[in-house]
Amino acid sequence: MSNIRCIGICTGGGDAPGLNAVIRAAVKCAFLKYKWKVIGIPDGFDGLIWPEESYELTLKHVSGILPRGGTILGTTNRGNPFQYKTVEDGKEVVRDISDQVIANARRLGIDAVITIGGDGSQKIALELFQKGMKLVGVPKTIDNDLSATEVTFGFDTALHTATDAVDKIHTTAESHHRIMVVEVMGRDAGWIALEAGIAGGAHVILIPEIPFSIQRICDYVAEREGYGKRFTIVVVAEGVELPPELKENRRAGAVGNLIGNAIAVRAHKEVRVSVLGHIQRGGSPTPFDRILATRFGVAAVNLIAQGGFGKMVCLRNERIEAVDIAQAVGRLKTVDPDGQLVRTARAIGMCFGD
Ligand code: F6P
Repeated sequence: MSNIRCIGICTGGGDAPGLNAVIRAAVKCAFLKYKWKVIGIPDGFDGLIWPEESYELTLKHVSGILPRGGTILGTTNRGNPFQYKTVEDGKEVVRDISDQVIANARRLGIDAVITIGGDGSQKIALELFQKGMKLVGVPKTIDNDLSATEVTFGFDTALHTATDAVDKIHTTAESHHRIMVVEVMGRDAGWIALEAGIAGGAHVILIPEIPFSIQRICDYVAEREGYGKRFTIVVVAEGVELPPELKENRRAGAVGNLIGNAIAVRAHKEVRVSVLGHIQRGGSPTPFDRILATRFGVAAVNLIAQGGFGKMVCLRNERIEAVDIAQAVGRLKTVDPDGQLVRTARAIGMCFGD
């Protein structure tokens, strides 16, 4: 029998559709199956700096949140208690306040914590676990770049949003005989670009894993014109490695515009650029993400009941399993440039700019 009576739950890092579905599943399972109390910790681990902000999460709080994007608990991607930044006498000071965070969790009566977050949040969870806090992790990110799990919730919803955008760009690109560049998120991994590009029938896909040149894209546009195709859709991942001639101008979020401009200049074509940005992080989670998030939420609670602290739930061979957080963090899953998906795209004439 576990001696758990009360668990805490927090969401850290960038939000992803499906966070609320995890919270709902965890609260329902904790309360209905184990009769545990659940404390909602607001804004990642920041909520344990000011424990008075934490509150009991009841079935009422989670009623109706399954289809809602975002997180009812709030989140931050700056909340690292080991390197907490404050301004003192006009100067930025970095402090380790992890002891305070652990003590505040105890003060709230929290026996164990579920941390829902990406690589950064799980690294913090691991450090807190190593200092004695009982924790289990739930992976999330729209980027789908965590190697310990086959897929993260949030990715499918982002993929739907990006694919829908490429579909919409298609008709206007064709009407105006233009080159249309669509920049998508994904940080250092090309999953959203690759899959939305294939699903949306884009012609050029640029991902961080495959170096490209502007000249090759322009040649490809000319080849398409040879077949009578007077429009081209380029899906570009935000994290692409820019070719040397564009490198100096790089600034966050600008790669789509830089590449679009370079193609326009070199190919003497009309180019338009759409940067999808945070639209990909919002909206109602798809059924796939709702189901995966629900499975993760229940599995995290069961893991606590079994004493599986320091572990993170994950999906492997379509089954929910658990891995040590220590094994899960710091190993990003990126696109294999010689993998099946890339080869499939190449086989139907898609260009990677290489
Ligand atoms: O990791 C998720 C993600 O949306 C990335 O795809 C993107 O690079 C980043 O977060 C954006 O972060 P922020 O919301 O801090 O701008």
